[in-house]
Amino acid sequence: PGDRDVTIYEVGPRDGLQNEKGIVPVAAKAEFITRLVAAGLPIVEATSFVHPKWVPQLADAAELIELLGPDGRKHPVLVPNERGLDRALELGCEHLAIFGSATETFARKNLNSSLDEQFAMFEPTVARARAAGMDVRAYISMCFGDPWEGAVPVDQVVAVGKRLFDLGASQLSLGDTIGVGTTGQVGALLDAFNAAGLPDDVLAVHFHDTYGQALANAYAAWQHGIRTFDASAGGLGGCPYAESATGNLATEDLVWMFRGLGVETGVDLDALVATSTWMAGVLGKPSVSRVVTALAGS
Ligand code: HMG
Ligand code: MG
Repeated sequence: PGDRDVTIYEVGPRDGLQNEKGIVPVAAKAEFITRLVAAGLPIVEATSFVHPKWVPQLADAAELIELLGPDGRKHPVLVPNERGLDRALELGCEHLAIFGSATETFARKNLNSSLDEQFAMFEPTVARARAAGMDVRAYISMCFGDPWEGAVPVDQVVAVGKRLFDLGASQLSLGDTIGVGTTGQVGALLDAFNAAGLPDDVLAVHFHDTYGQALANAYAAWQHGIRTFDASAGGLGGCPYAESATGNLATEDLVWMFRGLGVETGVDLDALVATSTWMAGVLGKPSVSRVVTALAGS
């Protein structure tokens, strides 16, 4: 870890598997996470403690954390409210991630709240988590566009993001939930956050690849100074409450790019490709990652 130049925050088990039609057996989820850790991914978000009716794919969250043993507690878990926090605290989880929306419509669809109401949910959640010694990451969705509202004003994204961060988060992950953003927008949004007092070292980027822009956007963010990148093994993922969204940036594609740049990720690409190939077998469909496709056969 000391010799890592960038940090890849792996979201495949959570953002990936939450969007699969079928429910992956809990033992396979545990194996997936264990293999990702073994492949050198420094952070692997494991699951979410949301309402199981909203995301049945991750209803087995508690069982999964227990199955992972003592190390299970070290994986970040996604939580929307105090009920989710209680479930995470019961298991001794140490890292929490909350997720807010930059737009009114998505706040309603994803959290059954208004843009303002979401903070009433997050405030006590983060306060209690911090008091319990937990580290909290905050995601912000729809930073580059929203399927219902269209373009999202940069000022609005920054205002919501800053408010989320100021609740007591250690990092803010900027989400292109539906993958519409392009490189120019990435620079402009990062500049706006910097100007609002959030430097690149407290920011992360979270790109979905719907329009094939995710890797280019990650490169733009890296050139800007971002050093934490969310990605999903094999390009798994999407968002169940944003229908046009497809998978996240594939972790393999990101690792391949950084390897070419001589930027150390600490990830063993062969072990990662083998893991995604195995998960593709579990899911019964090939990985969408170009790098997995290219390397799996070689
Ligand atoms: P609600 O229906 O308004 O909830 O949903 P409520 O507070 O009115 O409670 C209703 C019932 O749900 C109660 O039970 C609660 O206890 C229970 P009852 O008293 O009726 O028996 N409940 C819960 N049960 C288990 N775990 C919980 C929980 N909370 C309440 N945490 C709620 C509001 C926020 C719960 C709901 O909207 C929800 O679960 N949303 C989650 C949606 C989601 O997971 N979306 C995907 C993740 S976000 C994402 O993918 C984007 C990201 O990747 C970044 C990007 O790409 O942009 C992060
Ligand atoms: Mg996402």
